[in-house]
Amino acid sequence: MVSEEQNHNVSRRQFLTYTLTGVGGFMAAGIILPMARFAIDPVLQAESAGDMKAVASVDDLTDQPQRFDFSYEQEDAWVTSEVTETAWIYQEGDEIIALSPTCTHLGCTVGWEANQDHPKEFFCPCHGGRFKKDGTNIEGTPPTEPLHKYEVEVQQGTVYVGKAESQV
Ligand code: FES
Repeated sequence: MVSEEQNHNVSRRQFLTYTLTGVGGFMAAGIILPMARFAIDPVLQAESAGDMKAVASVDDLTDQPQRFDFSYEQEDAWVTSEVTETAWIYQEGDEIIALSPTCTHLGCTVGWEANQDHPKEFFCPCHGGRFKKDGTNIEGTPPTEPLHKYEVEVQQGTVYVGKAESQV
C-alpha cells in the first residue's frame, strides 16, 4: 500500500518535472530562436543583396517608363517565400534607368502617368506625391526625396536589377 502511494508521488513529481522542463524549454526557445534569427539575418540579407534578378529584355524598353514585375524566392531563416517586386524601367541613350515604385513619402505605390492632370510624371495616389521621369520629387508635394533607383546590369540583351537605393 505504502509502496503504491510512493509510486504515485514519484509519478506526480515526474509529471511536475516534465511539465516544468517542457515549459522552460518552450520559453527558452522563444527567447533564443529570435536571437539566432537576428544574428543570422544580416548574413542572409548580404547574400540576397548581391543577387541580380532578370526583369526585362532590352528590346522591350522605350524612352518611356514601363512597369516590369519580377519574382524570386527569398529564404528567411526557416521560411522560403516567393517575393514579387516591380521596377519602372526606361532607356535614355545608352543608359537604362530602373526606378522603385515605392513612394518615398509613406510607401504607397506610384505609377507613371497615373493621374491625367500630371502627364509625364510618376504619381502617388495616397497624398498626391509627384515625381519627374528620373524619379526626382516635385517640390510642393509630400515626398521629400527622389524615388529609389535599382542597380542595373545588362547581360546578353537581358536587364538585371539589384537592390533599389536612395538617390540622395
Ligand atoms: S505615400 Fe505617396 S504621397 Fe504620401
